[in-house]
Amino acid sequence: MEKYIVEGGRPLYGEVEIQSAKNAVLPLLAAAVLVDGEVILRKCPRIRDVMNMVEILRELGFRTDFIKDTLRIDGADAANHEIPAALAKEMRSSIFMLGSVIARFGRARIAYPGGCDIGLRPIDLHLSGLRRLGVKINEAGGYIDCECDRLRGAKIVLDCPSVGATENIILAAVRAEGDTLIENAAKEPEIVDLANFLNRMGARVYGAGGATIRIEGVKELHGTEYTPISDRIEAGTFLIASAMCGGELVLKNAKAENLAAVIHKLIEISCKIHTDNGKIYIESRGRISPKLVETSPYPGFPTDLQAQITALACICEGSTVVVENLFETRFKHVPELIRMGADITVRGRSAFIRGVSTLKGADVVAGDLRGGAALTLAAISAEGLSTVTDLSHIDRGYSGFEYKLRSVGARIRRIAV
Ligand code: UD1
Repeated sequence: MEKYIVEGGRPLYGEVEIQSAKNAVLPLLAAAVLVDGEVILRKCPRIRDVMNMVEILRELGFRTDFIKDTLRIDGADAANHEIPAALAKEMRSSIFMLGSVIARFGRARIAYPGGCDIGLRPIDLHLSGLRRLGVKINEAGGYIDCECDRLRGAKIVLDCPSVGATENIILAAVRAEGDTLIENAAKEPEIVDLANFLNRMGARVYGAGGATIRIEGVKELHGTEYTPISDRIEAGTFLIASAMCGGELVLKNAKAENLAAVIHKLIEISCKIHTDNGKIYIESRGRISPKLVETSPYPGFPTDLQAQITALACICEGSTVVVENLFETRFKHVPELIRMGADITVRGRSAFIRGVSTLKGADVVAGDLRGGAALTLAAISAEGLSTVTDLSHIDRGYSGFEYKLRSVGARIRRIAV
């Protein structure tokens, strides 16, 4: 296990390059299963979730070659349809493989997926969507076995706009016979990126980014080269870091239009932000409470930045209520923030926060990916020395987190426990 040692209380000044989005790259890797030609992903972040997904591709028989930040995937010899249980349990995104593995091999076997422990996270919408496309599914002994001679397009109405279910259904439907209509689809920018990538490979996906997506099935897809969109959650994390620590940051390769709800909140608390040609400039000028933050599907405030904005609200002037509408148990960072001097009460899905002037250094433990990032921000903004233990969670989604923070003035280093 590893931990951060952080000497907090320094403002952040300088430039940070934002990585490609974890949540875009993972479905793109699942999409690579659909072709037997070569797929090349540029600017691919070497984060733990990506490396796990690459490992799954290797188990399926794909050849992969990761040189610097370019990942080459060659599916000419792929023939295996079983995703090993150990890898499936490592990450929830392994479930995205179902749609594309079935579309390519006519069958798929996967153990129930793992991932961050932030609530129930069922996969019923993934499975019912695939059933609608003609997949026979058998769930037994912790495994999901799928079989299908021929995928057939269908109309699928999602009970809620699940990101993963929308992606999984798209991945199966692109090679189905006939048209598929997904209604109440998720609208996240990563879905648009998946559709753009698939269309570059010869698919016909229309309407991504809206509530209705239409997919015209095609017989074959071909390889392509692609650079995924930038990571709005990493960008949001650095914006909140800046608001917490003070100073001035410039984020490069950041898409402000995908962060409108977050930027709006930060301006409300009195940060000065302007955007220009793929860059976001932020200057922190005091912190007034954002009063109410409610997470909701895109374009609302992202649940993946809830922990970070909760940490920020702890040191804002006044009280804030943070409501988590997507995941039931996504407040594991709260007891740790309280150890750092935060004043928070959680009732159900709401956290009631009374701002304090500063957090105090403490030894805290990261319980999940975004919670871990939030505790790191709390530590770099706090007075005194902190440790943040169990970096394996943070490594799932942030590449070189501590290097980037150090390059803009934070005092943070990683050591083995
Ligand atoms: C994706 C993101 C994750 C983000 C989440 C919400 C990836 C790799 N992960 O996760 O970072 O936090 O979107 O923005 O892109 N649900 C069901 N049944 C299902 C599927 C989902 O009830 O079959 C519910 C979930 O319990 C949850 C809500 O739908 O309350 C949203 O989940 P979903 O959008 O599916 O999240 P993920 O795709 O797992």
